[in-house]
Amino acid sequence: MTLKQSNAWMAMPKNKWAPMLLLLFSLSTVMVVFMRATSDSCDTSSVSSTKHFGAEVNQRQAQIHSTVPLGNAAPSPLEFMKSKLVLMVSHELSLSGGPLLLMELAFLLRGVGSDVVWITNQKPEEPNEVIYSLENKMLDRGVQVLPANGEKAIDTALKADLVILNTAVAGKWLDPVLKEKVPQVLPKVLWWIHEMRGHYFKKEYVKHLPFVAGAMIDSHVTAELWKNRTRERLGIKMPDTYVVHLGNSKELMEIAENSIAKRVLREHVRESLGVRNDDLLFAIINSILSSLIVTTDACLIWLCVSRGKGQDLFLRSFHESLKLIQEKKLQVPKLHALVVGSDMNAHTTLEIELRKFAVEKKIQDRVHFINKTLTVAPYLASIDVLVQNSQGRGECFGRITIEAMAFHLPVLGTTAGGTKEIMVNGTTGLLHPVGKEGVTPLANNIVKLATHVERRLTMGKKGYDRVKEMFLEHHMAHRIALALKEVLQKAKRQLK
Ligand SMILES: *[C@@H]1O[C@H](CO)[C@@H](O)[C@H](O)[C@H]1NC(C)=O
Ligand SMILES: *[C@@H]1O[C@H](CO)[C@@H](O)[C@H](O)[C@H]1NC(C)=O
Ligand SMILES: *[C@@H]1O[C@H](CO)[C@@H](O)[C@H](O)[C@H]1NC(C)=O
Repeated sequence: MTLKQSNAWMAMPKNKWAPMLLLLFSLSTVMVVFMRATSDSCDTSSVSSTKHFGAEVNQRQAQIHSTVPLGNAAPSPLEFMKSKLVLMVSHELSLSGGPLLLMELAFLLRGVGSDVVWITNQKPEEPNEVIYSLENKMLDRGVQVLPANGEKAIDTALKADLVILNTAVAGKWLDPVLKEKVPQVLPKVLWWIHEMRGHYFKKEYVKHLPFVAGAMIDSHVTAELWKNRTRERLGIKMPDTYVVHLGNSKELMEIAENSIAKRVLREHVRESLGVRNDDLLFAIINSILSSLIVTTDACLIWLCVSRGKGQDLFLRSFHESLKLIQEKKLQVPKLHALVVGSDMNAHTTLEIELRKFAVEKKIQDRVHFINKTLTVAPYLASIDVLVQNSQGRGECFGRITIEAMAFHLPVLGTTAGGTKEIMVNGTTGLLHPVGKEGVTPLANNIVKLATHVERRLTMGKKGYDRVKEMFLEHHMAHRIALALKEVLQKAKRQLK
């Protein structure tokens, strides 16, 4: 973890300390929300914080397990899944968006009494702490974990009411394991796809796609893209497709709606950065990684688009906004830029460039870098505006956007990807174009939010309202339920 939290906790009165610990370190919070998934999906060995985290989970597990509320008073829209056997096939198991999202669904289904069996298709040879702790967490919640191949896997696939493949790459599991039984299983497969980069449109991964019962995709724009690409590049047809926007977990909402927690986190993070309480903090929260990464919203991003997050363009806009403020002699608080998700270990050329830029422009006292982190809540609690500057096709959904909105933050986002489906331009934030054309518009938007305090706060509030209306866990569960219901019906008809 990048935060030295212990100091902050020590300084707090005991009576506040205990509930805060419970709140912030409740296991599910730690696993799914608070410790965020920005880690490298392939090479977990390079993520030392991830390993450390695995140990931490185990330590805390015993202490806090009994305090985690299980189940939910309101009836779940997934109630009809009771006693259904669901097989989930994850392409891998790591602290990255895709697998964690599938785990969230596994726990939602366990909550309504489904029998859930989990298979991880690709596992490293050597023992892995992250996998160990995640599997234990699943076993704790009554999810059965099976090896990727063998009789038991085949048997479960044949018996299951529903098989959920997670990510396009999980398609690699079908042929080698099920062999001639593939056609028997396909009619009950729901394929959850989060990728939108070119190299995933590969026949080797998705050749069975036309024959599955349905595909579930995180945004309309990504669903469109898959429709186009499968038809034009692969000459195959997409199955019935369900667009399922994601939702914020209860744990994240708990922190976002706890003003004491937020204040403590805000004070602590700002102090550690040297940012005063009334300074304005604009942040871009992402990863700068040198290889295949999985972002917070489970979209896989490839090396060649490591600039896809737009940190460099953001800093240019930030610098431009400072110049504008100076030229126009505007009276505003001191502005800071925060780049969360840098990786000092890797010394990526991009990061070196970003730092050089800050030094060249003499803004290094206002530009802060935070290491790659699994924790986003402390940063969301401490910033004033989220900048979602994803370039190219943007994010397939962009979970950080709804997380920021839950924290009453206005969003300055690119007109790309899922961002457009989440934000209401002019109401919950402001959009700017991708690429170099977007630098000046973003600079202007930064100045707008810096000078119009009322507008900034209103946008934050509107964003929060929108999250409450559309992007909570139960909204997501409802959307998923619609897809599952249809897939079950279709499977029943076809397999009769
Ligand atoms: C898909 O193709 C249609 C028509 O060919 C085009 O209008 C649309 O913009 C494309 N969508 C994407 C996401 O590429
Ligand atoms: C980032 O990580 C490196 C290596 O683990 C460490 O030396 C450095 O102090 C960290 N920086 C911050 C700002 O936490
Ligand atoms: C977003 O809204 C602002 C005004 O609120 C407008 O100037 C801008 O053109 C809009 N951008 C897009 C992409 O709709």
